Amino acid sequence: MTAAPRTRVLTGITTTGTPHLGNYVGAIRPTVQASRDPSTDGFYFLADYHALIKCDDPARIQRSTMEIAASWIAAGLDLDKVTFYRQSDIPEIPELTWLLTCVTGKGLLNRAHAYKAALDKNQEAGKDPDADVSAGLFMYPVLMGADILMFKAHKVPVGRDQIQHIEMARDMASSFNHLYGEHFVLPEAVVEASVALLPGLDGRKMSKSYDNTIPLFAPSAQLRKLIMGILTDSKAPGEPKATEGSALFQIYQAFASAEETAALAQAYTEGIAWGDAKQMLFERIEREVAPMREKYEALIANPADIDRLLLAGADKARQLATPFMRELRHAVGLRPLALSGSQPAQPKGDKPALASFKQYREKDGLFYFKLVSPQGQVLLQSTGLSAPREVGQMVARLQQEGAGALAGLRAHLLPLSSEDEQQVTQALAKIVEASQ
Ligand code: TRP
Repeated sequence: MTAAPRTRVLTGITTTGTPHLGNYVGAIRPTVQASRDPSTDGFYFLADYHALIKCDDPARIQRSTMEIAASWIAAGLDLDKVTFYRQSDIPEIPELTWLLTCVTGKGLLNRAHAYKAALDKNQEAGKDPDADVSAGLFMYPVLMGADILMFKAHKVPVGRDQIQHIEMARDMASSFNHLYGEHFVLPEAVVEASVALLPGLDGRKMSKSYDNTIPLFAPSAQLRKLIMGILTDSKAPGEPKATEGSALFQIYQAFASAEETAALAQAYTEGIAWGDAKQMLFERIEREVAPMREKYEALIANPADIDRLLLAGADKARQLATPFMRELRHAVGLRPLALSGSQPAQPKGDKPALASFKQYREKDGLFYFKLVSPQGQVLLQSTGLSAPREVGQMVARLQQEGAGALAGLRAHLLPLSSEDEQQVTQALAKIVEASQ
């Protein structure tokens, strides 16, 4: 019995920032957990080509790639089980991007939210609609389509803002399959509704763009300092406090068990001082993060180790990507000229067209045969014979022995030019080959 095919789950992380607690709670932790499910086959990668669309600071791209890779590994991603790689280590990705570009309607890309948002912003500012809009931004969904379709992903866990991109990848896959045969799996977006949205220092969603983040692997002292800076109301120690709308409480909940959370809620009612509540939060986060931080720091201190791990992941990924890309190149016609598919289309029908023998009787009462090409051209013509059996035997010899039989039959054949002889030889060779 063969094992049930495993669901292939794939997601990419753009390498433009430093992982923060929001990334950890919203993406890293649930993904690492889900990657342990034995019924799935995980593909996780650093989307550094995508990063170039948003960021032109080389040092930041490099630093972020290192930090994100180290964070995922330190958080427990099992590199033996999953395939973890850097997008730019897979040259087949940009190669596939081009094939997809050629089956993607420009109109489809015109409707991409990110591109439209950039146009709208320019219009509002009274600028040229395309001001500062790179072709990279426009092509973003195609590159992402290549990421997904290359590995035949079934499920793609993403944030809500990315659903449209997965739908576009499906469109690209369908168009390609329609034109060139069933090569791609149509992917599905998975939006995890239950994952907590973590508030940041100021109570708004934790996000780099609000500058309210707490880095996941900030050193312990810095982590404590940042937590002490979380915005609270001005209730004094002893005054009961509301859990509702308390960023501090929500962050605690994202790390704590149900009992621990209930205990903090109780402490709120009893008027715990904000300073004490923050200390509790710091200790709770530290308990989860400290062991991972140690691994993280060891990795960051040895970037060559991270490179090695990523290259091993790329090797694993390319075991699939390289042969698949070969298949796709072949499908679109980028293939050796000597391959049979390069001949003009054969006349319809299952079998390749062959020259055929016709045996017939003429008005003169004699029996004849001729060899006729698929296009109806007479290649070989016999003289008239009185016995139909003789004609049958000659045809049989030519069918079995091919051109080798010609010499012995010359007396009963009309003469051939050397050009005709070549054509006859090839036609007979095909007949012999087809009968074997
Ligand atoms: N665009 C995604 C984001 O910003 C990152 C990404 C790139 C991605 N390629 C992908 C996600 C392929 C899922 C699948 O979040």
